[in-house]
Amino acid sequence: MTTEYETHEHDVLIIGAGGAGLRAALGALAQGARVGVVCKSLLGKAHTVMAEGGIAAAMANVDTADDWRTHFRDTMRGGKLLNNWRMAQIHAQEAPERVRELEQWGALFDRTEDGQILQRAFGGHTFRRLCHVGDRTGLEMIRTLQDRGVQLGIDVYMECTISRLLKDGDRVAGAFGYWREQGRFVVFRAKSIVMATGGIGKAWKITSNSWEYTGDGMALAYGAGAELMDMEFVQFHPTGMVWPPGVQGILVTEAVRGEGGVLRNKLGQRFMEKYDPKKLDLSTRDVVARAIYTEVREGRGTEHGGAYLDISQKPADYVKKKLPSMYHQFKELADVDITKGPMEVGPTCHYMMGGIRVDAETAKSSVSGLFAAGEAAAGLHGANRLGGNSLSDLLVFGRRAGMAAAEHANHVSTTALDSGQIEEAAREMLAPFERDAGESPYTVHRDLQETMQNLVGIFRNKEDLIRALEELEKLKERAGRVSVEGSRLFNPGWHLAQDLKAMLTVSEAVTRSALAREESRGAHSRIDHPGLDATWGTKNNVIVREGSAMMLRQSAVPELPGDLKQLVAEEK
Ligand code: FUM
Repeated sequence: MTTEYETHEHDVLIIGAGGAGLRAALGALAQGARVGVVCKSLLGKAHTVMAEGGIAAAMANVDTADDWRTHFRDTMRGGKLLNNWRMAQIHAQEAPERVRELEQWGALFDRTEDGQILQRAFGGHTFRRLCHVGDRTGLEMIRTLQDRGVQLGIDVYMECTISRLLKDGDRVAGAFGYWREQGRFVVFRAKSIVMATGGIGKAWKITSNSWEYTGDGMALAYGAGAELMDMEFVQFHPTGMVWPPGVQGILVTEAVRGEGGVLRNKLGQRFMEKYDPKKLDLSTRDVVARAIYTEVREGRGTEHGGAYLDISQKPADYVKKKLPSMYHQFKELADVDITKGPMEVGPTCHYMMGGIRVDAETAKSSVSGLFAAGEAAAGLHGANRLGGNSLSDLLVFGRRAGMAAAEHANHVSTTALDSGQIEEAAREMLAPFERDAGESPYTVHRDLQETMQNLVGIFRNKEDLIRALEELEKLKERAGRVSVEGSRLFNPGWHLAQDLKAMLTVSEAVTRSALAREESRGAHSRIDHPGLDATWGTKNNVIVREGSAMMLRQSAVPELPGDLKQLVAEEK
């Protein structure tokens, strides 16, 4: 029996409707492309809203000495020089313009006394650089981009999951997916596809990511032959909630520390004095996350295994004005009044620095017609991302990806869809219904999260990583045998069975890359290789599919031109 499906056609299909996807859609629309945006969830529900504290852009509204050069240097140093320098340069140069544009489109930023966009301090940024809206910056960004996109007429396909990219020879031709509510299949034909699906946090047990973040875009691109890069660099945000258990991992914005919040252990010691005496609580995220983890491991953690984060020394009105979401979050979820006492916080898996390897200027991947932006793409952040650089990243490179995708679509002929690929994709989707008495996808997911949390976490070593690879092999086998009951009508078990494939692919890529990198750099800490290794400082790990095998190789980090090398080396 042939598969039934509906078909939609666009010049540019954007998969993912967070900040990167929406900004890409606007970029492609501006070039006259017919644009479709597919999102797994409801429009507006994206991890972008979890970048609460601000957008990093060298506007120099508060600290007038700031400029793109300092932002570039901070980003490169934060990324331990593994960044694609050209991406870091474009990002630092274009971010202020993208913020001004967002303001023109209706974003309401907090203001300085003379009416300019207010900027606050954040870890690893030399100057107060984060343009913000209280602690709801990501939300305001999404609201603005979404309003504009809908007003300009993008077609949005909500609650739709893509399970496979379709190819026409070497180029992408479209995508196969299903409506989550009805379980019916859908095919999108497109000349260009922009992957903007965000991160992979749901492969870990403690994460700030919500259910959508299962690495779909990276796995889809990998399946279509694209390269993945820097997959070992997973960011653990230092401050997630640790108590009560049901809310463990929910983000506590870095803006708390940006506004003067202080970290202490159970002995009342300001422990960051020991780990980074200069930057203290506003050290980079990799350093602060390791510091909290170490304090807990050495017995100086709080009652529920975290650190105290205290902003109650500031006037209550100030805290409520600057951090309204945090105030409500702790009051409602933990019965803690943060204007009166400390929060309990601990590291939470937050962000993926690695992802689809792209060209700096155009965001195009190694597969013709396939582009990527935001967290799904690699390169800008190197070994560690600075807070606030995610929002500027998705504005800058979302726009570039959308424009380049539209340009590509303008110059190629209509793609042909291959019914064989569609039938295979449908068969694969329906397989869990065909199996009797297989394992539940929920137990496989739980065990995957335990494996990644315990063996591929903040601190790693060879033995654990090898064990993780062995476990992943077993989990892949189990995932191939899961069965689901019921019908295709909104069936969460079936959805998870699908998501598991992507999570297992990206987890394997992370683990293989982490095992290969025998050094500690940025977010990747090897207990058995504690220092930086100069040889590894010149290499990116690249993952590519060969048949059914995942292959790992190294490629040279693009060399900085002389003037930028000097800039990065300068002391300031
Ligand atoms: O802490 C935060 O507000 C998160 C920001 C980010 O990830 O960029």
